[in-house]
Amino acid sequence: MKAAVYKTYGPADVVRIETREKPGPAATELLVRVKATTVTTADWRLRASAFPGGMWLPGRLMTGLFKPRNQVLGVEFAGVVEETGAQVTGFHLGDRVFGFAGHGAHAEYLTIDETAAVAPIPAGLDAAEATALPFGAVSALVFLRDTARIKPGQDALIIGASGNVGIYAVQIAKAMGATVTAVASAGNHAMLRELGADEVIDYRAEDPVSGGRRYDVIFETVGVIKFGAARKALKNNGLFVPLNFSILDALQGLWSQFRGGRKMLISVNGDKREDLDSLAEMITAGTLKPVIDTVLPLERIRDAYRYVEGRHRKGSVVIEVAKRAKLALAG
Ligand SMILES: NC(=O)c1ccc[n+]([C@@H]2O[C@H](COP(=O)([O-])OP(=O)(O)OC[C@H]3O[C@@H](n4cnc5c(N)ncnc54)[C@H](OP(=O)(O)O)[C@@H]3O)[C@@H](O)[C@H]2O)c1
Repeated sequence: MKAAVYKTYGPADVVRIETREKPGPAATELLVRVKATTVTTADWRLRASAFPGGMWLPGRLMTGLFKPRNQVLGVEFAGVVEETGAQVTGFHLGDRVFGFAGHGAHAEYLTIDETAAVAPIPAGLDAAEATALPFGAVSALVFLRDTARIKPGQDALIIGASGNVGIYAVQIAKAMGATVTAVASAGNHAMLRELGADEVIDYRAEDPVSGGRRYDVIFETVGVIKFGAARKALKNNGLFVPLNFSILDALQGLWSQFRGGRKMLISVNGDKREDLDSLAEMITAGTLKPVIDTVLPLERIRDAYRYVEGRHRKGSVVIEVAKRAKLALAG
Protein backbone atom coordinates (compact mmCIF):
# COMPACT_ATOMS: atom_id res chain seq x y z
CA MET A 1 0.00 0.00 0.00
CA LYS A 2 1.03 3.64 -0.49
CA ALA A 3 1.81 5.65 2.65
CA ALA A 4 3.27 9.07 3.48
CA VAL A 5 6.29 8.21 5.61
CA TYR A 6 8.62 10.36 7.75
CA LYS A 7 11.77 8.89 9.27
CA THR A 8 13.27 12.01 10.80
CA TYR A 9 11.77 15.12 12.38
CA GLY A 10 11.94 18.17 10.14
CA PRO A 11 10.29 20.34 7.48
CA ALA A 12 7.60 19.10 5.07
CA ASP A 13 10.32 17.73 2.76
CA VAL A 14 11.05 14.86 5.16
CA VAL A 15 7.73 13.24 4.16
CA ARG A 16 7.93 10.77 1.26
CA ILE A 17 5.41 8.50 -0.40
CA GLU A 18 6.57 4.89 -0.02
CA THR A 19 5.18 1.43 -0.50
CA ARG A 20 4.54 -0.37 2.77
CA GLU A 21 3.09 -3.73 3.69
CA LYS A 22 -0.69 -3.68 4.00
CA PRO A 23 -1.61 -4.29 7.66
CA GLY A 24 -3.89 -7.09 8.81
CA PRO A 25 -6.49 -6.70 11.56
CA ALA A 26 -6.04 -8.32 15.00
CA ALA A 27 -9.04 -10.17 16.49
CA THR A 28 -10.83 -7.04 17.71
CA GLU A 29 -9.71 -4.71 14.88
CA LEU A 30 -11.11 -3.40 11.62
CA LEU A 31 -9.04 -3.05 8.47
CA VAL A 32 -10.14 0.24 6.90
CA ARG A 33 -9.47 1.22 3.30
CA VAL A 34 -8.78 4.92 3.77
CA LYS A 35 -10.59 7.13 1.26
CA ALA A 36 -9.70 10.48 2.79
CA THR A 37 -7.61 11.88 5.63
CA THR A 38 -6.36 15.37 6.54
CA VAL A 39 -3.23 17.19 7.60
CA THR A 40 -3.91 18.66 11.05
CA THR A 41 -1.88 20.94 13.28
CA ALA A 42 -1.18 17.80 15.34
CA ASP A 43 0.41 16.08 12.30
CA TRP A 44 2.53 19.17 11.64
CA ARG A 45 3.64 19.44 15.28
CA LEU A 46 4.54 15.73 15.42
CA ARG A 47 6.41 15.82 12.08
CA ALA A 48 8.39 18.97 12.90
CA SER A 49 8.68 18.20 16.62
CA ALA A 50 7.18 21.68 17.05
CA PHE A 51 5.77 21.37 20.53
CA PRO A 52 4.91 24.75 22.04
CA GLY A 53 5.78 26.25 25.42
CA GLY A 54 8.60 24.07 26.78
CA MET A 55 6.79 20.86 25.81
CA TRP A 56 9.63 19.72 23.51
CA LEU A 57 11.03 17.06 25.86
CA PRO A 58 7.67 15.59 26.98
CA GLY A 59 6.67 15.64 23.28
CA ARG A 60 9.82 13.82 22.19
CA LEU A 61 9.48 11.25 24.97
CA MET A 62 5.99 10.56 23.63
CA THR A 63 6.86 10.38 19.92
CA GLY A 64 10.45 9.05 19.99
CA LEU A 65 13.47 10.82 21.45
CA PHE A 66 15.84 10.66 18.44
CA LYS A 67 13.53 9.62 15.60
CA PRO A 68 9.80 9.11 15.22
CA ARG A 69 8.48 5.86 16.62
CA ASN A 70 5.44 5.86 14.29
CA GLN A 71 6.58 6.71 10.78
CA VAL A 72 3.13 7.23 9.28
CA LEU A 73 1.21 10.23 10.56
CA GLY A 74 -2.48 10.99 10.05
CA VAL A 75 -4.84 11.60 12.95
CA GLU A 76 -8.26 11.38 11.28
CA PHE A 77 -9.73 9.29 8.49
CA ALA A 78 -12.82 8.24 6.58
CA GLY A 79 -13.09 5.04 4.59
CA VAL A 80 -14.65 1.63 4.20
CA VAL A 81 -14.27 -1.50 6.38
CA GLU A 82 -12.51 -4.03 4.19
CA GLU A 83 -11.86 -6.79 6.73
CA THR A 84 -12.86 -7.48 10.34
CA GLY A 85 -10.99 -9.44 13.05
CA ALA A 86 -12.54 -12.69 14.28
CA GLN A 87 -14.03 -11.11 17.43
CA VAL A 88 -15.45 -7.93 15.90
CA THR A 89 -19.20 -7.64 16.45
CA GLY A 90 -20.09 -3.97 15.91
CA PHE A 91 -18.93 -3.42 12.30
CA HIS A 92 -19.32 -5.25 9.00
CA LEU A 93 -17.57 -5.41 5.62
CA GLY A 94 -18.45 -2.38 3.52
CA ASP A 95 -19.41 -0.15 6.47
CA ARG A 96 -18.58 3.52 5.85
CA VAL A 97 -16.61 4.68 8.88
CA PHE A 98 -14.76 7.75 10.12
CA GLY A 99 -12.68 8.41 13.20
CA PHE A 100 -9.47 9.11 15.06
CA ALA A 101 -6.57 6.85 14.23
CA GLY A 102 -4.07 8.72 16.43
CA HIS A 103 -1.53 8.04 13.68
CA GLY A 104 -1.34 5.96 10.51
CA ALA A 105 -4.16 7.56 8.47
CA HIS A 106 -1.79 8.97 5.80
CA ALA A 107 -1.89 5.59 4.08
CA GLU A 108 -4.19 3.49 1.92
CA TYR A 109 -5.04 1.18 4.81
CA LEU A 110 -5.12 1.35 8.60
CA THR A 111 -6.24 -0.93 11.40
CA ILE A 112 -8.23 0.28 14.38
CA ASP A 113 -9.79 -1.47 17.37
CA GLU A 114 -13.56 -1.59 17.13
CA THR A 115 -13.83 -0.06 20.63
CA ALA A 116 -11.66 2.93 19.66
CA ALA A 117 -12.88 6.25 18.25
CA VAL A 118 -14.45 4.90 15.06
CA ALA A 119 -18.09 5.34 14.06
CA PRO A 120 -20.42 5.13 11.04
CA ILE A 121 -20.23 8.14 8.71
CA PRO A 122 -23.38 10.26 9.15
CA ALA A 123 -25.79 9.93 6.24
CA GLY A 124 -25.30 12.56 3.57
CA LEU A 125 -21.56 13.09 4.12
CA ASP A 126 -18.90 11.90 1.69
CA ALA A 127 -15.46 10.73 2.81
CA ALA A 128 -13.83 14.15 2.47
CA GLU A 129 -16.53 15.79 4.57
CA ALA A 130 -16.46 13.04 7.21
CA THR A 131 -12.70 13.12 7.66
CA ALA A 132 -12.86 16.89 8.15
CA LEU A 133 -14.65 16.42 11.48
CA PRO A 134 -12.91 14.33 14.16
CA PHE A 135 -9.88 16.44 15.14
CA GLY A 136 -11.36 19.92 14.93
CA ALA A 137 -14.95 19.24 15.87
CA VAL A 138 -14.25 16.80 18.72
CA SER A 139 -11.69 19.22 20.19
CA ALA A 140 -14.21 22.06 19.98
CA LEU A 141 -16.99 19.91 21.43
CA VAL A 142 -14.97 18.56 24.35
CA PHE A 143 -13.40 21.90 25.29
CA LEU A 144 -16.66 23.85 25.08
CA ARG A 145 -18.90 21.19 26.66
CA ASP A 146 -16.61 19.63 29.31
CA THR A 147 -13.95 22.26 30.04
CA ALA A 148 -15.77 25.57 29.50
CA ARG A 149 -19.24 24.11 30.24
CA ILE A 150 -20.90 26.75 28.08
CA LYS A 151 -24.47 27.56 29.06
CA PRO A 152 -27.25 29.11 26.97
CA GLY A 153 -27.10 32.90 27.03
CA GLN A 154 -23.38 33.09 27.79
CA ASP A 155 -21.01 35.27 25.75
CA ALA A 156 -18.21 33.34 24.05
CA LEU A 157 -15.17 34.76 22.26
CA ILE A 158 -13.54 32.33 19.82
CA ILE A 159 -9.99 33.28 18.79
CA GLY A 160 -8.80 31.54 15.60
CA ALA A 161 -12.44 31.15 14.56
CA SER A 162 -11.77 30.24 10.93
CA GLY A 163 -9.15 27.58 11.73
CA ASN A 164 -9.66 23.84 12.04
CA VAL A 165 -10.83 23.87 15.67
CA GLY A 166 -12.29 27.40 15.65
CA ILE A 167 -14.63 26.82 12.73
CA TYR A 168 -16.36 24.06 14.68
CA ALA A 169 -16.15 25.96 17.97
CA VAL A 170 -18.22 28.77 16.42
CA GLN A 171 -20.92 26.32 15.31
CA ILE A 172 -20.92 24.27 18.52
CA ALA A 173 -20.95 27.28 20.87
CA LYS A 174 -23.88 28.67 18.87
CA ALA A 175 -25.68 25.31 19.05
CA MET A 176 -25.13 25.33 22.83
CA GLY A 177 -26.99 28.65 23.02
CA ALA A 178 -24.08 31.06 23.43
CA THR A 179 -23.75 34.47 21.82
CA VAL A 180 -20.64 34.00 19.71
CA THR A 181 -17.99 36.57 18.80
CA ALA A 182 -15.59 35.16 16.21
CA VAL A 183 -12.05 36.48 15.77
CA ALA A 184 -10.40 36.08 12.34
CA SER A 185 -9.15 38.26 9.49
CA ALA A 186 -11.81 40.27 7.64
CA GLY A 187 -11.88 38.01 4.58
CA ASN A 188 -13.34 35.21 6.70
CA HIS A 189 -16.08 37.21 8.39
CA ALA A 190 -18.91 36.50 5.93
CA MET A 191 -18.28 32.75 6.23
CA LEU A 192 -18.20 32.95 10.03
CA ARG A 193 -21.48 34.87 10.17
CA GLU A 194 -23.02 32.23 7.92
CA LEU A 195 -21.82 29.53 10.34
CA GLY A 196 -23.52 31.28 13.28
CA ALA A 197 -21.22 34.02 14.60
CA ASP A 198 -23.22 36.90 16.08
CA GLU A 199 -20.27 39.32 16.08
CA VAL A 200 -16.92 39.29 14.29
CA ILE A 201 -13.60 40.95 15.10
CA ASP A 202 -10.66 41.42 12.71
CA TYR A 203 -7.58 40.84 14.87
CA ARG A 204 -5.51 42.75 12.31
CA ALA A 205 -7.55 45.92 12.91
CA GLU A 206 -8.43 45.60 16.60
CA ASP A 207 -7.16 43.82 19.71
CA PRO A 208 -10.00 41.39 20.48
CA VAL A 209 -9.48 41.61 24.25
CA SER A 210 -9.09 45.39 24.60
CA GLY A 211 -12.37 46.62 23.15
CA GLY A 212 -14.23 46.83 26.47
CA ARG A 213 -16.62 43.94 25.79
CA ARG A 214 -16.68 41.16 28.48
CA TYR A 215 -17.11 37.43 27.91
CA ASP A 216 -18.03 34.40 30.01
CA VAL A 217 -15.65 32.20 28.00
CA ILE A 218 -12.63 33.01 25.86
CA PHE A 219 -11.56 30.02 23.75
CA GLU A 220 -8.07 30.65 22.34
CA THR A 221 -7.00 28.24 19.56
CA VAL A 222 -4.03 30.13 18.08
CA GLY A 223 -1.60 30.73 20.94
CA VAL A 224 -1.38 34.53 20.56
CA ILE A 225 -3.25 35.71 23.68
CA LYS A 226 -2.17 34.90 27.20
CA PHE A 227 -4.25 34.79 30.39
CA GLY A 228 -2.84 38.12 31.59
CA ALA A 229 -4.28 39.93 28.55
CA ALA A 230 -7.44 37.82 28.32
CA ARG A 231 -8.41 38.61 31.97
CA LYS A 232 -9.34 42.16 30.95
CA ALA A 233 -12.04 40.82 28.62
CA LEU A 234 -13.47 38.23 31.04
CA LYS A 235 -16.55 38.76 33.19
CA ASN A 236 -16.05 38.32 36.95
CA ASN A 237 -16.25 34.52 36.97
CA GLY A 238 -15.21 34.19 33.34
CA LEU A 239 -13.04 31.39 32.03
CA PHE A 240 -10.04 31.46 29.68
CA VAL A 241 -9.49 28.18 27.80
CA PRO A 242 -6.30 28.13 25.70
CA LEU A 243 -5.51 25.17 23.42
CA ASN A 244 -1.79 26.00 23.33
CA PHE A 245 -0.04 26.43 26.64
CA SER A 246 3.36 26.31 28.28
CA ILE A 247 4.32 24.63 31.56
CA LEU A 248 4.14 28.09 33.15
CA ASP A 249 0.59 28.59 31.82
CA ALA A 250 -0.40 25.22 33.30
CA LEU A 251 0.90 26.33 36.72
CA GLN A 252 -0.85 29.70 36.39
CA GLY A 253 -4.06 27.89 35.45
CA LEU A 254 -3.78 25.69 38.52
CA TRP A 255 -3.15 28.71 40.72
CA SER A 256 -6.22 30.48 39.30
CA GLN A 257 -8.42 27.60 40.54
CA PHE A 258 -7.57 28.48 44.15
CA ARG A 259 -8.45 32.14 43.76
CA GLY A 260 -11.86 33.68 43.30
CA GLY A 261 -12.81 35.42 40.05
CA ARG A 262 -11.49 34.84 36.57
CA LYS A 263 -9.91 31.49 35.83
CA MET A 264 -7.79 29.72 33.24
CA LEU A 265 -8.46 26.03 32.59
CA ILE A 266 -5.85 23.90 30.82
CA SER A 267 -6.85 20.57 29.38
CA VAL A 268 -6.00 18.00 26.72
CA ASN A 269 -8.83 16.33 24.87
CA GLY A 270 -9.11 12.59 24.29
CA ASP A 271 -10.77 10.77 21.43
CA LYS A 272 -13.92 8.79 22.16
CA ARG A 273 -16.51 7.02 20.01
CA GLU A 274 -19.32 8.76 21.95
CA ASP A 275 -18.04 12.17 20.85
CA LEU A 276 -18.07 11.08 17.19
CA ASP A 277 -21.67 9.95 17.72
CA SER A 278 -22.51 13.37 19.22
CA LEU A 279 -21.06 15.04 16.11
CA ALA A 280 -23.13 12.73 13.90
CA GLU A 281 -26.28 13.77 15.81
CA MET A 282 -25.43 17.44 15.28
CA ILE A 283 -24.84 16.84 11.56
CA THR A 284 -28.22 15.11 11.30
CA ALA A 285 -29.88 17.92 13.26
CA GLY A 286 -28.30 20.49 10.93
CA THR A 287 -26.44 22.33 13.71
CA LEU A 288 -22.96 21.37 12.47
CA LYS A 289 -21.41 21.15 9.04
CA PRO A 290 -17.93 20.20 7.88
CA VAL A 291 -15.82 22.96 6.39
CA ILE A 292 -13.17 22.04 3.83
CA ASP A 293 -10.57 24.52 2.63
CA THR A 294 -8.76 22.37 0.07
CA VAL A 295 -8.61 18.79 -1.18
CA LEU A 296 -5.22 17.52 -2.38
CA PRO A 297 -4.08 14.05 -3.54
CA LEU A 298 -1.78 11.99 -1.27
CA GLU A 299 1.12 12.76 -3.64
CA ARG A 300 0.81 16.46 -2.67
CA ILE A 301 0.84 15.92 1.08
CA ARG A 302 3.96 18.12 1.50
CA ASP A 303 2.04 21.07 0.00
CA ALA A 304 -0.77 20.33 2.42
CA TYR A 305 1.70 20.45 5.34
CA ARG A 306 3.15 23.77 4.17
CA TYR A 307 -0.32 25.27 3.91
CA VAL A 308 -1.40 24.04 7.36
CA GLU A 309 1.79 25.38 8.95
CA GLY A 310 0.94 28.85 7.57
CA ARG A 311 -1.97 28.92 10.09
CA HIS A 312 -4.48 30.60 7.75
CA ARG A 313 -6.54 27.73 6.37
CA LYS A 314 -10.33 27.75 6.65
CA GLY A 315 -11.42 24.49 8.26
CA SER A 316 -9.78 21.31 6.97
CA VAL A 317 -7.08 20.48 4.47
CA VAL A 318 -8.19 17.10 3.14
CA ILE A 319 -5.95 14.50 1.54
CA GLU A 320 -7.69 12.33 -1.02
CA VAL A 321 -6.10 8.92 -0.55
CA ALA A 322 -8.42 7.02 -2.88
CA LYS A 323 -9.64 8.86 -5.96
CA ARG A 324 -13.17 10.25 -5.84
CA ALA A 325 -13.16 10.63 -2.03
CA LYS A 326 -15.44 13.58 -2.55
CA LEU A 327 -17.91 11.40 -4.43
CA ALA A 328 -19.90 8.45 -3.10
CA LEU A 329 -17.89 6.12 -0.90
CA ALA A 330 -19.32 2.85 -2.11
CA GLY A 331 -17.03 0.86 -4.38
N1 LIG B 1 -4.87 20.88 23.97
C1 LIG B 1 -5.38 20.02 23.09
O1 LIG B 1 -5.79 18.92 23.42
C2 LIG B 1 -5.50 20.44 21.64
C3 LIG B 1 -6.46 19.83 20.82
C4 LIG B 1 -6.56 20.25 19.50
C5 LIG B 1 -5.73 21.25 19.01
N2 LIG B 1 -4.80 21.79 19.83
C6 LIG B 1 -3.93 22.89 19.34
O2 LIG B 1 -4.81 23.96 19.04
C7 LIG B 1 -4.28 24.74 17.99
C8 LIG B 1 -5.40 25.07 17.04
O3 LIG B 1 -5.38 24.26 15.96
P1 LIG B 1 -6.11 24.60 14.62
O4 LIG B 1 -5.88 23.39 13.81
O5 LIG B 1 -7.48 25.10 14.82
O6 LIG B 1 -5.21 25.84 14.08
P2 LIG B 1 -5.26 26.54 12.68
O7 LIG B 1 -6.27 25.91 11.79
O8 LIG B 1 -3.88 26.65 12.18
O9 LIG B 1 -5.77 28.03 13.05
C9 LIG B 1 -5.89 28.97 12.07
C10 LIG B 1 -6.65 30.18 12.64
O10 LIG B 1 -5.75 31.03 13.34
C11 LIG B 1 -6.00 32.37 12.94
N3 LIG B 1 -4.77 33.16 13.10
C12 LIG B 1 -3.59 33.02 12.46
N4 LIG B 1 -2.71 33.92 12.93
C13 LIG B 1 -3.35 34.66 13.86
C14 LIG B 1 -2.98 35.76 14.70
N5 LIG B 1 -1.74 36.29 14.65
N6 LIG B 1 -3.88 36.26 15.57
C15 LIG B 1 -5.14 35.74 15.64
N7 LIG B 1 -5.55 34.71 14.86
C16 LIG B 1 -4.67 34.18 13.98
C17 LIG B 1 -6.45 32.25 11.50
O11 LIG B 1 -7.18 33.41 11.12
P3 LIG B 1 -7.04 34.05 9.64
O12 LIG B 1 -6.76 32.96 8.67
O13 LIG B 1 -8.37 34.71 9.42
O14 LIG B 1 -5.91 35.03 9.71
C18 LIG B 1 -7.34 31.02 11.60
O15 LIG B 1 -8.60 31.41 12.10
C19 LIG B 1 -3.08 23.98 17.45
O16 LIG B 1 -1.91 24.62 17.90
C20 LIG B 1 -3.20 22.60 18.05
O17 LIG B 1 -1.94 22.03 18.28
C21 LIG B 1 -4.67 21.43 21.13
